[in-house]
Amino acid sequence: MCGITGYIGPKDAFHVILDSLKKLEYRGYDSYGFATLHEKRIHIYKDVGKISNVNSGYLPGNIGIGHSRWATHGGVTKENAHPHLDCHGRVAVVHNGIIENYQELRDELTRKGHIFRSETDTEVIPHLIEENLNLGFVEAVKEAVKKLKGRYAIIALSPEHHGMIAVRKGSPLILGVKDGECYVASDIPAFLDHTNNVMYLDDNEMVIVTQNDLKFYNVITWEEVKKRIVTIEWSAEQAKKGEYAHYMIKEIMEQKDTLRRAINQDDNEIEKIAKSIAEACGTFFTGCGTAGKVAFTAEYAFSKIAKKHVNYIVASEFPNYHHFLTNETLLIAISQSGETADVIEAIETAKEKGVKIISIVNVVGSTIARMSDHVFYINAGPEKAVASTKATTAQLAVIYLLAYASAGKLQEGKKNLMDLASKVNDMLNPRYEERIKKLAEMIHAQPNIYIIGRSINYPMALESAIKIQEVSYIHAEGFAGGELKHGPIALIEKNTPCIALVANDEVKDDVISNAIEVKSRGGFIIGISPENNEVFDYWLKVPDVGVMSPIVNIIPVQILAYHLGLLRGCEIDTPRNLAKSVTVK
Ligand code: M6R
Repeated sequence: MCGITGYIGPKDAFHVILDSLKKLEYRGYDSYGFATLHEKRIHIYKDVGKISNVNSGYLPGNIGIGHSRWATHGGVTKENAHPHLDCHGRVAVVHNGIIENYQELRDELTRKGHIFRSETDTEVIPHLIEENLNLGFVEAVKEAVKKLKGRYAIIALSPEHHGMIAVRKGSPLILGVKDGECYVASDIPAFLDHTNNVMYLDDNEMVIVTQNDLKFYNVITWEEVKKRIVTIEWSAEQAKKGEYAHYMIKEIMEQKDTLRRAINQDDNEIEKIAKSIAEACGTFFTGCGTAGKVAFTAEYAFSKIAKKHVNYIVASEFPNYHHFLTNETLLIAISQSGETADVIEAIETAKEKGVKIISIVNVVGSTIARMSDHVFYINAGPEKAVASTKATTAQLAVIYLLAYASAGKLQEGKKNLMDLASKVNDMLNPRYEERIKKLAEMIHAQPNIYIIGRSINYPMALESAIKIQEVSYIHAEGFAGGELKHGPIALIEKNTPCIALVANDEVKDDVISNAIEVKSRGGFIIGISPENNEVFDYWLKVPDVGVMSPIVNIIPVQILAYHLGLLRGCEIDTPRNLAKSVTVK
């Protein structure tokens, strides 16, 4: 949460940063700000609102930092927007993360006479740096960092130093490098238009950036660290909307290709991890939100395909299960961004017990990828819309590969997935979208939508609810079909839309019975299924792909959520109160 960026080079820093912040907007979008360095002075501009609405403005200078905020400490006000300054305007800081001991530091600094102008945790950082500015900017930042507790990525600048200093502990920070220029940002798309040569800052590292030099240090030992440049294959085009009105629909349509890319894993690695699962004394899948629902699907996929018991625990609850972890346990963490704080904490808990970590991640070089003993990259390309779509189905594809490999049937699984990918290709046509749009027109004014599924489609009923909630703000809830009559059926009124996820499997008749129960209480039944059924008031056909039905069943719901959001005038790619990567607990 929050996007931070910095630039040094021959260009106008303000414009470079404005452009970068727009690309980082998915990380936070309630307020924004800039600070540049020019003629030994810090120039600052900040405001509330979305950075995407900023099309003018200027600050002088070729060195600058910027921030797009998702509020944690303090409301959405201009005063709370970053960058934050020290008492005398000699230090400016942007920050992503949380300073856990900020109250204690703030009290101490206030006692020493520092004047605070915001309610943020961040503001303690420039004041801490100010405390030791007489030692020089670099030393002052080092001293400040020693006092900070929590997870953070910060970029600081000061007229005392012709450049920037960035420090990372738990929140992402990547450098984009080019001759005579350096970009620092929370995520690669921020500078992908300028360079795809990147250097990763690891946890507890600091980089001192000047126009022609980069010096990396470990902030615990203060030893210099050598880094290498990595060339990223993502193109700037992939990270743009192109002909589409929103990233979300672009990313939904990209599933024609992204599924194939996810399936294209190294067979040996898949077999190797399947063997580790077989040998492990307990395998846990974890993730948050949508990725959590994929992790939950793994429980069913392994049971059905490999007759193997694996466990799902939502990442924020994972630390409560530490008693069950040993050095023979395996943790498989799923995350699009690779930066989700709850997943990172789950991994840290597991590592303390010597657990082996496998991850299924989209963002190359992300924190979770770097914490893992082995990473499967889903290769979906940048996912910019807050609502996860193409990453979800790609993660599911990797889960199926592992489940099939665990059953000793990897090639069969691969073939089935490739067939599925071509069926998805056929499905994602304009006529299909039109039919879903018509459905959205019929139900967009409804206050509630319910989704039912059983067995392997139960996690997808939960995921369907997330999609509808975050994109259309309609109250949506997913249930296991069998649970309806134990309470939720009381919510059904005349015309209440209820989506039934029906696959051609052993629970088909039971879900249909549940749909009949809802219909007899006035519900409007939307069937997502390979075959029509008389209980359906509206049918969305999906290909029959057997045990892999979650992949095809979730796609029409993604399109439905998109059209519901459009009809209700919602901010499709940047829903209220949310951010793409949730880097706070
Ligand atoms: O980057 P991650 O996959 O770790 O993100 C996890 C969740 O925050 C994410 O899936 C969230 O639920 C999405 N907004 C859902 O569309």
